[in-house]
Amino acid sequence: MKKITVIGSMSIDLVVSASKRPGKGETILGDDFFTTPGGKGANQAVAAARLGEKVQMVGRIGEDDFGKEIYGNLKNNHVIVDGVEPVTHVPSGTAHITLSEQDNSIIVVPSANNEVTPDFVKKHLEALTEGDIVLLQQEIPSETVEYVVEFCSENGLVSILNPAPYREINKSIIEKVDYLTPNETESDEMFKGDLDDALSAYPMKLIVTLGDKGAVYHNGKEKVQVDGFKRDVKDTTGAGDTFNGAFAVALQKEYNLEKALAFANLAASYSVTGMGAQGGMPTLEDIKGEWNV
Ligand code: RIB
Repeated sequence: MKKITVIGSMSIDLVVSASKRPGKGETILGDDFFTTPGGKGANQAVAAARLGEKVQMVGRIGEDDFGKEIYGNLKNNHVIVDGVEPVTHVPSGTAHITLSEQDNSIIVVPSANNEVTPDFVKKHLEALTEGDIVLLQQEIPSETVEYVVEFCSENGLVSILNPAPYREINKSIIEKVDYLTPNETESDEMFKGDLDDALSAYPMKLIVTLGDKGAVYHNGKEKVQVDGFKRDVKDTTGAGDTFNGAFAVALQKEYNLEKALAFANLAASYSVTGMGAQGGMPTLEDIKGEWNV
């Protein structure tokens, strides 16, 4: 069986909910606080594993309690952890999240995630076989993302780059990656122009996610919008990660692009119904009433 490899970040999320966000120089009282496993890479790995695929995580954690929690959580979710290695003298990644007005604001401190270097990922990439799927985000160094996309393109691996959080990407990387999955804000920053122009410039590659409105792409002839699902929102954190993990699963199942996006939209819609990035991520059993698996 081919596998999905996620090369990316792992963090502990420190989450505060409050009735509003503090302004500059302001102190306010929050309503609630919890810590929970997160990081875009780990979230995407857990999302894909919950949907029943064989998923490997490649990344780095600190030799600290957060690192142990991150590692244990991946194992509990049946993610293969051979590629998760501790780094000494650097703490595990953290994300500092404010939940307010049905949305989140996040500051990520990458720490050990900055040690996911090209040298570190090389041996894991070389162990993959043609057709395997590699999923990437941008909470690890940009030279690693570039190295992985180039390696995938030269070795017949399928690459998906979720360009979050946004940072500038070389045009050659956009050309070489198989799928690029920004949200609307990231897409605006990346292409600095009309969404339709960007979509038609990268048919069957650029997929722009639109929250509960679904996702759009261009099929070479026309723009295709694949509708999302509306749910009662508890916490939107991790919805994009669930979309990406589920999208990788759908490619593994060899769904065509439109069906793959419908599957990813459905999984993402479940994710907002639970607290924490991974709290609402569904299993195949959870979605079986709405998806013929
Ligand atoms: O996409 C959500 C994730 O972004 C959170 O889990 C947090 O860790 C940040 O990386």
